[in-house]
Amino acid sequence: MGTDLDKLFSKDPYALFQTWFKEAVNAKLPEPNAMVLSTISDSGRPNSRVVLLKGVTNNQFQFFTNLHSQKGHEIEKNPQACLLFFWPTLGHSLGRQVRIDGSVIKLSDEESDAYFATRARDSQLGAWASHQSEVLDSRDTLEKRFHQAKERFEGQAVTRPPHWGGLALIPERFEFWIGQDNRLHDRCRYTLNLGVWARQRLNP
Ligand SMILES: Cc1cc2nc3c(=O)[nH]c(=O)nc-3n(C[C@H](O)[C@H](O)[C@H](O)COP(=O)(O)O)c2cc1C
Repeated sequence: MGTDLDKLFSKDPYALFQTWFKEAVNAKLPEPNAMVLSTISDSGRPNSRVVLLKGVTNNQFQFFTNLHSQKGHEIEKNPQACLLFFWPTLGHSLGRQVRIDGSVIKLSDEESDAYFATRARDSQLGAWASHQSEVLDSRDTLEKRFHQAKERFEGQAVTRPPHWGGLALIPERFEFWIGQDNRLHDRCRYTLNLGVWARQRLNP
């Protein structure tokens, strides 16, 4: 069984993810780091939205957001989430999907500060202006808040809003999917078992 899987799915899911990610970047797919993040509400309803993967550090999949947003609240109450990448068919390459689930932790203030500092100034100001996921009475209100932030930080570095920061998903399961002819796709699930990743081929 190992040999059958080895041809397509290496033993280490992180290494396989990095290979596929590099291939998606090299293929010039639009937004290769866009991933669907799914969380669960208090009442058990799933919610999905796209966020951008900003790095895989210490085997943690990092992204940045407003911690007071809907996703922020949901993750705070139930720190379980699922990430989904879809890299569609392009040229000779076949479509690929990667599903990763696990628990979510908050990055340290230092890590969030470090990433915030790399953002374009207007994006930094936007983080102050947007009360993400709250009802907004008009576009005008948002733009006013943006200009207020601009005036406030005139001539100085824009500090990170305390409610804006990084989260990271620590994988407990991966599933890699490769589109094949006749819907006979290849799937491989990786499950973490006492610190060791076990692989299983799944029916398509
Ligand atoms: C391509 C793309 C990239 C996005 N990247 C992010 C991101 O990195 N962080 C973020 O908070 N929202 C990002 N968004 C917006 C989210 O999809 C979402 O609208 C927002 O975070 C509010 O979600 P929530 O109300 O579920 O918390 C992105 C949207 C798209 C379409």
